[in-house]
Amino acid sequence: MSQRDLNKGAGALFQDEGQDGLLHRAFLRGEGFSEEEVRRSPVIGIANSASELNPCNAGLNELAEFMKEGIREAGGLPLEFPTISISEPFTRPTSLYLRNLMSMDVEEMIGATPIDGVVLLGGCDKTIPAQLMGALSANKPAMMLAAGPRPVSCFKQNLEFTVDDVWPLCESRRVGAVRDEDWLELEGKVNIGVGTCNVMGTATTMSAIAEMLGFALPGSTLPAANSSARAELARATGRQIVQTVSKGTLPTDLVTDQSLENAFRVVSALGGSTNAVIHLEAIAGRAGLRIGPERFESWSASTPYVANVRPSGQRLLADLDAAGGVPAIVQRIGVTIHRDMATANGQSWEELLAKQEFPENDAIAPINEPLSERGSLVMLRGNLAPRGAVLKAAGVHDPKLKTHRGRAVVFDGLADLNSRIDDPELDVDRDSVLVLRGLGVLGAPGMPEVGHIPIPAKLHRAGVRDMVRLSDARMSGTSTGTVVVHVTPEAAAGGPLGILATGDEIELDAAAGVLRHFLSDEEVAARKPFASPPVQARGMAWLHQQHVLQADDGCDFNFLRASGMETIKDTESNCERAIATS
Ligand code: FES
Repeated sequence: MSQRDLNKGAGALFQDEGQDGLLHRAFLRGEGFSEEEVRRSPVIGIANSASELNPCNAGLNELAEFMKEGIREAGGLPLEFPTISISEPFTRPTSLYLRNLMSMDVEEMIGATPIDGVVLLGGCDKTIPAQLMGALSANKPAMMLAAGPRPVSCFKQNLEFTVDDVWPLCESRRVGAVRDEDWLELEGKVNIGVGTCNVMGTATTMSAIAEMLGFALPGSTLPAANSSARAELARATGRQIVQTVSKGTLPTDLVTDQSLENAFRVVSALGGSTNAVIHLEAIAGRAGLRIGPERFESWSASTPYVANVRPSGQRLLADLDAAGGVPAIVQRIGVTIHRDMATANGQSWEELLAKQEFPENDAIAPINEPLSERGSLVMLRGNLAPRGAVLKAAGVHDPKLKTHRGRAVVFDGLADLNSRIDDPELDVDRDSVLVLRGLGVLGAPGMPEVGHIPIPAKLHRAGVRDMVRLSDARMSGTSTGTVVVHVTPEAAAGGPLGILATGDEIELDAAAGVLRHFLSDEEVAARKPFASPPVQARGMAWLHQQHVLQADDGCDFNFLRASGMETIKDTESNCERAIATS
């Protein structure tokens, strides 16, 4: 029997007239389901990542109830179940460290339970890729609905206070420029409701990817969390998943080279998060596909950046929603999109857009006057990043820094950074390049979002607000600045970042896509290699250390990728890299 046949039959156990059916129905009746309900078909799981330890996902319980209404309206039986939930601010050592574990939880729960299809309820950054990765590996019909952005706040004179406004205030606090009473007031103004970060951060970027891959309904990314529009989206998703199950559409039918290209082009047009590069590669790997830095760069370079939304632009997510959201972006960059790809409502993008007209507002730039002729994410290569690095060019504050040569000031890990960055004796000036290493997926472990290295206090006091910064860590999608992240291979895996020393010259040339040092071969050979991380003996730490792949392979575990994907030892570093063998 094929996997497709097995998947189709999962919920049929509830209709079975023998012992299996009796026990399946009987156990549900014990939960209070009626005689009629336990005979409904299809059976739809709702994988709910709501958790009080994940404030961004706290509103998902309400959405699950609306979703159940939609599933029942379409004749199905909804059965909600919890999964691991990963909060960006609360999870240690990092949220990415647990993404693959969450994907395994989602995969096994979908595969192990008698459901015909599933709706994934996600929100905070890593929950969405984890759910998509797990659903792809389980390969039963699946849809997704994200929590949606949280409300905009106000703080002092800023009447449209969004989460990206917090970072400059934190920098000012470090140099003593924010009073204690204002700091306390700020605590109550950062998050004034449930939902995900209210700018084009990682959560919103990943929700847009889910929309473009055909998991989430068109237009579902931007309506506010807990809005009536999102409640209706939950009902509509519930109705639609019943149709998706009856059509037999599987996640691996949705994730193709063309839909991956569509997704990344929209990320490029949106000014989306650098984290999208890691997660989209991991998603591709679960479908037996590989994107690679060259294709990411070619897609970004040929897609105009048009979404004028924070943190890189001016407008709010609500303005972009009013302008038509992701479908309006697809229409605006139209010729670069494969319009024959399916949306989650069963229509192709071509069919969907043929019937749509979108209102104009300045949240989307005209195609003949884009914010940039190319997409906002720039893939860098060079002797400092043989397997790539990423810069969100749209977030650069001082355009001159996109082409810059400067002297490295190197920090080994967070403790070193924190102990020296504000030292008045630190030998640094505005032209220096701040380097942070030892914080990659192996070294940290889990690539914390610390690539947005703070400006040294003495330079901040002198008015410096941006510098070239580079690391093997990640950065928050809500951050901006001339911040190069995901330098690969990371220092702890033998990457060249590990042999840099303070005083070495570094060049960033974003236009040419180059990140390099100027050390001779003799100097490289003479440098001491970067220390390997301590060996882990058990549990998740052992699993992670033994099996995690580098950033250019999506940081997935090597054994979770689809068949047809193998890993080989990289001759340039101590780490494995993925290859497609079919
Ligand atoms: Fe959860 Fe931003 S911290 S979505």
